[in-house]
Amino acid sequence: MRKINTDVLIVGTGVAGLYCALNLNRKYHVTMLSKKSADECNTYLAQGGISVCLNKFDVDSFMNDTMNAGMQLNDKDAVKTLVLESMENIDLLDRLGVPFNKINNGFVYTKEGGHEKNRIVHCDDITGKEVFNTLYSIVKSLPNVEILENAEMFDLNLVNNLCLGGYSIYEKEILYIVAKITLIASGGVGGLFKNSTNQPCLTGDGIGMVNRESIKVSSMEHIQFHPTALLTDKSSSKRRFLISEALRGEGALLHNSEGERFVDELLPRNVVAAAIFKEIGKTGSPCVYLDISHKGRENIRKRFPKIYFQCLEYGIDIAKDRIPVAPSQHYLMGGISVDLFGRTGANNLYAAGECACTGVHGGNRLASNSLLECLVFSRRAASDMMKSITSVGEAYKDYISDKVFSIEDGHEVSRKNRLEVIRMIKEVRKDLENELVDC
Ligand code: SIN
Repeated sequence: MRKINTDVLIVGTGVAGLYCALNLNRKYHVTMLSKKSADECNTYLAQGGISVCLNKFDVDSFMNDTMNAGMQLNDKDAVKTLVLESMENIDLLDRLGVPFNKINNGFVYTKEGGHEKNRIVHCDDITGKEVFNTLYSIVKSLPNVEILENAEMFDLNLVNNLCLGGYSIYEKEILYIVAKITLIASGGVGGLFKNSTNQPCLTGDGIGMVNRESIKVSSMEHIQFHPTALLTDKSSSKRRFLISEALRGEGALLHNSEGERFVDELLPRNVVAAAIFKEIGKTGSPCVYLDISHKGRENIRKRFPKIYFQCLEYGIDIAKDRIPVAPSQHYLMGGISVDLFGRTGANNLYAAGECACTGVHGGNRLASNSLLECLVFSRRAASDMMKSITSVGEAYKDYISDKVFSIEDGHEVSRKNRLEVIRMIKEVRKDLENELVDC
């Protein structure tokens, strides 16, 4: 086992992990782990954009939209924090160089389901990729940050409810990372589903690890299905290609196999997905169809270049063809229970992003609130970490854990993490039993 010491260990290189690293004081040494390559995170795949409160008159409306989509199960303080801190974080991304679509120097706002108005900033239909690229290139260049790719974290090191880092499989050996503070930002659970828009490597590892230590995890029953994932047999990818909700925001219509409209396309995601499931059950067709062809080829290609060209590769010309779509697992609203500063039930252990549950999304996340959640709450976590990074970690610097792992043990514990998450989901969502993979 190789041992390294760091101040802050960040598990995950999506926007929550990167933005936390960026917001930490440069005097702290930060070690970031990515299970696969750094860009194999859900951030990279996010298409639609990032919601932002337009001005002080939009606070109530944005909060209401988030709560209505969330079936009023949201934590209201978390929602308020999300909304009130949205503008400063988007401004910061803008200043850092994220190439948001603009007109006359102001943001272009688009709309998605459940939003009363246009309040979503975006970079064409590759917002997540642009945010990732901007943050990653900055963080990678910071002298205090080390990013280890293909480093799978599989276990925490907890001593009397104090987290002192953990264990990872890296370069064919076990890496034992002693850290004063640890942030889990390991993403969602889509890799445990047969059909998901997520990166297949995202298998809820952080959630499983934490739950095995009896640190609180909540709301695992709240799993979101995105209404419009592409249905094609031409894709070799394990993940379903997303057809962004922004298409519906900009006028795309849903039709059943008989060519009839059957739902208001801009209702919250869970409502539209349920209507599609019902239609599929009624007609016996495996999909419904999304049609944006009336917008014209030039507009479509300019606004949705990624989707346009990806669909062409699958033989679908969205400027004239209807797009076959069906719901697919997309997002976990539950996860590691945290407060508004990302603090978990263990000391010096934080969580942020999709693996964390502040309660901000309630039972169903409002479209384009995911990257925003990562920004707002990982920055808050960074500010709290800098207050709580005390000598306690220092005192344990030379501590040697009595846990000893071989590579085989590490793989076995990883499997246990996945099985733990599957068990948790099955316990609360019997209806999803057949949707889950075997591990
Ligand atoms: C989408 O573009 O439809 C996905 C964005 C999100 O998950 O909020």
